[in-house]
Amino acid sequence: MDFLRIVGGKKLSGDVQISGAKNAALPLIASTILASRPVTIDNLPNVRDIKTLLKLLDNLGASFTHEGSQATIDTSSIDSTVATYDIVRTMRASILVLGPLLARFGHCEVSLPGGCAIGQRPIDLHLKALEQMGADITIKSGYVIAEAPKGLKGATIIFDKITVTGTENILMAAALAHGKTTIINAAKEPEVVQLCEVLQQSGIKIEGIGTDEITVEGTGGETIAMPDFAVIPDRIEAGTYLCAGAITNSEIRLRGVIPEHIESILVKMRQMGFDFTIDGSDITIHPAKSIQPVEIVTSEYPGFPTDMQAQFMALALLANGTSIIEERLFENRFMHVSELRRFGANIQLKGNIATVIGPTKLYGADVMATDLRASSALVLAALAAEGVSNVHRIYHLDRGYENLEDKLNALGADVTRLKE
Ligand code: EPZ
Repeated sequence: MDFLRIVGGKKLSGDVQISGAKNAALPLIASTILASRPVTIDNLPNVRDIKTLLKLLDNLGASFTHEGSQATIDTSSIDSTVATYDIVRTMRASILVLGPLLARFGHCEVSLPGGCAIGQRPIDLHLKALEQMGADITIKSGYVIAEAPKGLKGATIIFDKITVTGTENILMAAALAHGKTTIINAAKEPEVVQLCEVLQQSGIKIEGIGTDEITVEGTGGETIAMPDFAVIPDRIEAGTYLCAGAITNSEIRLRGVIPEHIESILVKMRQMGFDFTIDGSDITIHPAKSIQPVEIVTSEYPGFPTDMQAQFMALALLANGTSIIEERLFENRFMHVSELRRFGANIQLKGNIATVIGPTKLYGADVMATDLRASSALVLAALAAEGVSNVHRIYHLDRGYENLEDKLNALGADVTRLKE
């Protein structure tokens, strides 16, 4: 198993290129199940979750080539509609094949994703919506077995909660359904918007893109002529590098960002005393004279993303005062707190609210990564800590951050990947 050894206290400088968004790429790859021809996707991040989903498609009988940031996927040869436990258990986002497989083949079996380090994460809303579209769903031996032999039919879906992959699953299912589907209380994340746009470019009539009410006219079972396209930049990777600049109080430039996608992150950083120069798709962060405490409540887009909560907690350790961080989306997304304490953090936890008392002098420590974003918070704290830290179990990081140590080292950090 790999771990990262980080010598803290280095100033960063220079440029970092932001990769394609993992959470946009995953539904887009799944959506190729709906396509009538091979599709080439560019700007894919080179991270493990992408390889896992391509492997799942391969298991279903699809073929693909994958080199660097580009993959060409041909789903015309799919001859199985069973997403097995051994893959789904390694990546919850495998559930994204449920909607498109059912819509195209009228039958599929997808292993039920279990809970994970950040919460229970049920998929009841995905299943209820598909049932409303005429699917017959049973759970047997740990699998979701979904049947719609005559195809799915359009319906009005009202999501009780805003769900990102739930909205994506229903968008893909609706694209091949008979008639019109309206999704009310839909997710508005940029990743959902790109999926809508690609479906629209494939000839599907979609209204309300980027709003909480989306209407999709299905093809009635016909596969779609999907164009080649490039994945949008990763707003969470961008936010994480902004935090790397901030926590080392360094000036660095991010290249290839869509600034409006990270507006809520910039707002919070400005409140903390950091300043930015935005030039097209480049963003430069300028150091703060004094880091101010902050109040954060996570919410759905365009609110402050839960996927940046852990990184901001690391940054808040250096603030001159008490920060309050409230996690509203996931019930157990504070696993990084006990690890941050190993660096010397003073954090009080009560339910879903963390009180971070700063400023703290951080010292290098051995820490354990627990989930993807929690791991990046530990790397950030290690960059700011005095001395050497070892971040263990970094397979979590490899799921979602492309070349993390190379990118950080190019900025002047001292990070080495070692084997346990
Ligand atoms: C997506 O997960 C992301 N994953 C997550 O990114 C992200 O944290 C999350 O959205 C919130 O922004 C991908 O896009 C692949 P949800 P998702 O369904 O879709 C509850 C990362 O680090 N809910 O929007 O699984 C759920 O428990 C990850 O990259 C139900 O109750 O999240 C949560 O409280 C981790 N029933 C809330 O809704 C359901 O059927 C929002 O979850 C579905 C969700």
